[in-house]
Order: sequence, then C-alpha cells, then structure tokens
Amino acid sequence: MLLAPSILSVDFLHLGDTVDLINRSEADFLHLDLMDGVFVPNLSFGFPEIKQVADLSTKPVEAHLMIVEPLKFIKEYEDLGFQTVTVHYEACTHLHGTVMKLKERGMKAGVALNPHTPIEFLADIVDDLDLVLIMSVNPGFGGQRFIPGAIDKVRRLKAMIMQRNLQTLIEVDGGINLETGKIMIDAGADILVVGNSVFKTNNPEEIMARMKKL
Ligand code: DX5
Ligand code: ZN
Repeated sequence: MLLAPSILSVDFLHLGDTVDLINRSEADFLHLDLMDGVFVPNLSFGFPEIKQVADLSTKPVEAHLMIVEPLKFIKEYEDLGFQTVTVHYEACTHLHGTVMKLKERGMKAGVALNPHTPIEFLADIVDDLDLVLIMSVNPGFGGQRFIPGAIDKVRRLKAMIMQRNLQTLIEVDGGINLETGKIMIDAGADILVVGNSVFKTNNPEEIMARMKKL
C-alpha cells in the first residue's frame, strides 16, 4: 500500500517541520489539498506556501484540486513539479480534455469522486486515468467522519479495474485511520490519504509506519 499524508490540518506556522517529518517518514507522497472557496466552502494554500512546500518535499507531490477551474493554473502545477494532479469529476464539464491536457504536460492524471458520485460515471474514462480518488468525506475540511458508503465504491471500482486489466490506482481520502484504512485496503484501495489520524497525535511517524504495514 501507498501512504499520502495530507498537510491540510497541520500547524501552518511550522509547515517546514511537517514537510521535513514527511520526508523522513515512510510516506510515499505528499498530498496537497488546494481549494478555491467555490467548489468547496474553504480555502487552503496560496502559491507562495505551495512553492515552499513543493521545493522542500523530497516525496512526490500529488495535488488534490477542489476547484472549479482546474486548468486555470496548469502551467504553475507543471512548473512546481507536481507528479500527480487530481481533478474533481463534479468540477469538469470536459473531463476527458482536462485529463489529456494534464498528461500532455507530463503529469499523472487523477479524478476524484464526491460521496454521491457513482464510480460507474467513470466507465468511459477510467482507461485513461492514472488514479481515481474516492472521497470518504465531503471535501473541504480535515477531521471529518468517514462515510461507510465509500467502501463499496472502492470494491466496485477495483472490480472494474481488474476486469479491464488496468494499472489505475485507487486512492481514498477522508476520515482514514488505522481502522478505516485497513477496511479500505481490504476493499481494494492502493493509496491512503491521512490527515488528522496522523498529525493530531504525538507520534505521527510511528502512526505512519503502522499504516504502511496494513
Ligand atoms: C478533505 C481533504 C483531505 C483531508 C483529509 O477535503 O481532501 O485530504 O486533509 O483529512 P482527514 O484525514 O483528517 O480526514
Ligand atoms: Zn485531499
């Protein structure tokens, strides 16, 4: 399994320490939640902080775009060296075109699904995706309660991916801890995004190491 700590809920005054901690840890990615106050009722990071984080991170950065115009800053994402950019299905009228533009610029492309969006809506695009992100909370905030309906979505998506013999990864995001993480891995998830369950503890590195063993 792969681990993607989200820095949304950490102490922003000590962001550098958190990035160092992630660099030292067994994490596989740094998960960066970007918001516009329109697609979700919240804001997160601006470009000055994003650049500092991206420069300091030795882990590949995966951006989770909770924004209505995901391509507006595509050049910035490329220049920042993001490895993966995940856009929301619900935000993209021309999802196929959006995915292709990201890939043309050398980034891996992911699509995120809100809790109410069926995985079957990806049937005609999943072959083109590097990643599908199943939201297990409504996006916008860390520290929310896990929505159990996401478990069956992961199972159904895994079946679709296996049936077509694809390499598409399944990522889950929201309310993931050691317990819900295990359930999601068993259901077929490849990547766990973790926020509060890691960073609101006194021993984030140890919790991440335990998660890597799930
Ligand atoms: C929520 C974000 C998540 C968030 C997860 O909109 O996409 O990545 O940081 O935080 P936890 O793990 O606390 O639910
Ligand atoms: Zn996220």
